[in-house]
Amino acid sequence: MGKYLPTEPYRGTRDFLPEEISVRQQVFHRLYEVIEVFGYQRYDGPILEPTDIYEAKSSREIVEQQLYTLTDRGGRRLALRPEMTPSVARMIAGNLGRLTFPVRWYSHPNCFRYERPQRGRLREHWQINVDLFGSPSSAVEIEFIELIHAMMAALGATPDMYVLRMSDRVLLNAIFTEILRIPADQTRPVAGLLDRWEKYPEDKLRADAAEIGLTDVQFTRLGEVVQAGEAIVAELSDEARAGSKLVEVMNTPAHDLIKVDPLIVRGFDYYTSTVFEVFDASPDNRRSLFGGGRYDNLVGLYSSQPVAGFGFGMGDVTLMDFLTTHGLLPEPANKVDAVVIPTAEALFEPARTAAAELRAAGVRTTTPLESAKLGKEIGRADKAGARVVVIIGEQDYAEGMATVRDLLTGDQERVPLDEVTNAVKKTL
Ligand code: HAM
Repeated sequence: MGKYLPTEPYRGTRDFLPEEISVRQQVFHRLYEVIEVFGYQRYDGPILEPTDIYEAKSSREIVEQQLYTLTDRGGRRLALRPEMTPSVARMIAGNLGRLTFPVRWYSHPNCFRYERPQRGRLREHWQINVDLFGSPSSAVEIEFIELIHAMMAALGATPDMYVLRMSDRVLLNAIFTEILRIPADQTRPVAGLLDRWEKYPEDKLRADAAEIGLTDVQFTRLGEVVQAGEAIVAELSDEARAGSKLVEVMNTPAHDLIKVDPLIVRGFDYYTSTVFEVFDASPDNRRSLFGGGRYDNLVGLYSSQPVAGFGFGMGDVTLMDFLTTHGLLPEPANKVDAVVIPTAEALFEPARTAAAELRAAGVRTTTPLESAKLGKEIGRADKAGARVVVIIGEQDYAEGMATVRDLLTGDQERVPLDEVTNAVKKTL
């Protein structure tokens, strides 16, 4: 080890300096506003959860390879939450008596997964979760399709920049059993193969297919299913289509807002019907921006009362990549509005008084902590993003006056001390 400890954060996690926080806050606030306009209310929960809630029903990859686990002093097995869905299902089940359904909730937790850090994938990410509980209707799917497009629009994105790809586990199972003739209890590895379809070259897929017991004919048929895209739905039995929420969506105008795509599988055990992901149209960003779907059984882990769930997670890493790629990142906001600069040590007290008045009027104000040359202080104020400096000089102060300077235009005026706040507010 060197002489000093490293200054980098733990691999796959990030520090956020104030400028970055400013950009992120602006982005997130636009999203919160849209989500709230749709009637969703914010909730929160603990970062630590019993490991069981992920082991009971989540994603195999997460449970077997990505959980950060610990044992507390009482011997309880805990995990840093890798996602929010098991937590929110637990909270819904625990408050059934108090809730009026449908429940529309959102949250913005940080989640931890032991991943190999790469573009779009880190070990700690922030995930906006939006979920609706208590309705089996495909009106829920339609509401979410509209919400997602509204969120993207609020960020300045146009529909050509991204694509909302949707599938349905009910249809997927029918593809496996009716088209590929795979027994219903052996479909899981084939779903995994579909999930990897776009990530691997054909010879690797073919080898994987052979390994999980698919014949050449089945592998070829699977390729045809992928090629067919939406058209495959027409080849499935009436029974399968009647049980599909996605088919109901396809009969409404919302059909035009999605791409029906059998390649969307999602690696979680809890999804029961519709599944979807939103992808950047730019090939620079291959990881999804949003992922979600319908999970009609998860609350049942905690309670005998079945409660239908539907929702998504939207991650900050892929979102920031998307906004950067498309030139949609907002500028960092100014840190302060005004700086009150005394020109001598003896004027620190009146400068503090003037600063206090400005703050009371809601103007973000600082005043120097040590005396320095006026020019230097003005330079600092400018760097801090201040629009205005208030200069308290000896001569001015003796006459009950101060100078208010607009750093943008260079204009300045002498005003009585008790007029400083008004003069500053006029300039801002
Ligand atoms: P997920 O697909 O695992 O779904 O994650 C949702 C989104 O979170 C992804 O599309 C991606 O933007 C982001 N994300 C996930 N893992 C990482 C990572 N390691 N690094 C950076 N970003 C990541 C879920 O977690 C479901 N629980 C979502 C859900 C909510 N389903 C229903 N309600």
